[in-house]
Amino acid sequence: NRHVISMKDFSREEIDHILDTAERLEPVARGEERLRLLDGKIIALLFFEPSTRTRMSFEAAVQRLGGKTLNLGSVEASSVMKGENLADTIRVISNYADLIVLRHPLDGSARMAAEFASVPIINGGDGSVNHPTQTFLDLYTIRRESHLEDLKIALAGDLKYGRTVHSLCYALSLYEAEMTFVSPPELRMPPDIVRDLQKMDINIKETDSLERIIGDVEVLYMTRVQKERFPDPEEYEKVKNRLKVTRDLLRNVNPNLKILHPLPRVNEISPEVDSTPYACYFEQAFYGIPTRMALLALAMGVIE
Ligand code: CP
Repeated sequence: NRHVISMKDFSREEIDHILDTAERLEPVARGEERLRLLDGKIIALLFFEPSTRTRMSFEAAVQRLGGKTLNLGSVEASSVMKGENLADTIRVISNYADLIVLRHPLDGSARMAAEFASVPIINGGDGSVNHPTQTFLDLYTIRRESHLEDLKIALAGDLKYGRTVHSLCYALSLYEAEMTFVSPPELRMPPDIVRDLQKMDINIKETDSLERIIGDVEVLYMTRVQKERFPDPEEYEKVKNRLKVTRDLLRNVNPNLKILHPLPRVNEISPEVDSTPYACYFEQAFYGIPTRMALLALAMGVIE
């Protein structure tokens, strides 16, 4: 089985191959070509946390490739409510489906699920560390709309709890990106991740000001403050809305700047930015379909 658990499991060559495969599949993702690579396959979508994009773009990817999905539905309507553990749930669903996409609130749950599964597991986000399929679509977006090699990128917002930025910075280190971390002091990138990147000789800067860095970057990757991961709601109230992208902020930027956001957004990108040439987050959400198609097809061994 080829599982997709963490970006740390992928070499640069493997990532490039997945992005190339996604590019080949983009016309299928757009509905312009038909390719029934998943004909007769069942993909289980096992989501223990809310999701719009990850769940629905996997669903669209499977359907565009001729497969079928099997949904847990709401956790409240499942036997998790009777106390069934994740290991048993995975063992059972392994016999119902050919691949499982799992989203779960606990760090390490996807890795644990892979130990109990007899089919490939794709991590649709677990805890605050890993969201590898988001990273693949982020890399795809950056490669398509800007460039990956030696990129000057700012990762901004909730760098403490945001799993998308944690996953992404490991992958970007393979392309020797120059990274600036922008966050309120309370939401800085965890020190173990900073240390890992420094060991790889990655050039990192840290600041709490978007104004200070916006003129120097080619990609701004903005993120939401992860309200649901704060142990103390008062701490969330103190840091929410601290960073915001507005049209004013964008007055003197690189003309090729691309603004990405994994979405959903709350207040961190003003809607007036959506119509600027810099806004790229809705295209980015679409690129979830070809990249997830590529990951499904490669994990199931139906494409080389
Ligand atoms: N970006 C992302 O993972 O969105 P969802 O939580 O809606 O899936």
